[in-house]
Amino acid sequence: MNLLQTGLIAIWAMLPAYIPNNIAVIFGGGPPIDLGYTLRGNRLLGDGKTWRGTFAGIFAGAGLAGMLNLIHPLVNDLIAVPRFPIGAGVALPAGAMLGDLMASFMKRRTGRARGHAFPLVDQLDFVVASLGLTWLVSPQWFDATFTLPIILIVVLITPVLHVLTNVIAYLFALKQEPW
Ligand code: CTP
Ligand code: MG
Repeated sequence: MNLLQTGLIAIWAMLPAYIPNNIAVIFGGGPPIDLGYTLRGNRLLGDGKTWRGTFAGIFAGAGLAGMLNLIHPLVNDLIAVPRFPIGAGVALPAGAMLGDLMASFMKRRTGRARGHAFPLVDQLDFVVASLGLTWLVSPQWFDATFTLPIILIVVLITPVLHVLTNVIAYLFALKQEPW
């Protein structure tokens, strides 16, 4: 297996975790998850984390996993990509959203206002939580899919993809900040 193939498999396996944040940006709005509650003067999470955005993100990521399963027979002839069992198909996007919420929580606890950058945490929070939750929910699938080379590639390319999609969302005025 060469580097390009490994990279493509890594992206395929992570796609259900990659889109939730972007879907949340598009569909977010309405009541915030923390309902306005504060802890020591700072919001628990803030107005940037909404129920609608979170569920839209999880739903879209799980739906994408289902669609990838549909085209799996076609792609698998060219390159050995994984199928998503239901548990993993939900855990990947749910973990991604959870990681994003945990990062917001940490941002508020460290006095960072909504939308402020938190380098590395912003780029990797959702990967760590997504992989962690998927490992818990679907350990055998996780071990078979996320081999060490795949994990290394994911950790290296995710920040790049994340910055890229956020700059695009910013240029299209979907996001208020380019991170
Ligand atoms: N969003 C949402 N629900 C989520 C995540 C994101 O509704 N769970 C929407 C919000 O409109 C949010 C936008 O997507 O403002 C951008 O997301 P993000 O950059 O993650 O949030 P921030 O506004 O920067 O807030 P924070 O500082 O808490 O990360
Ligand atoms: Mg932000």
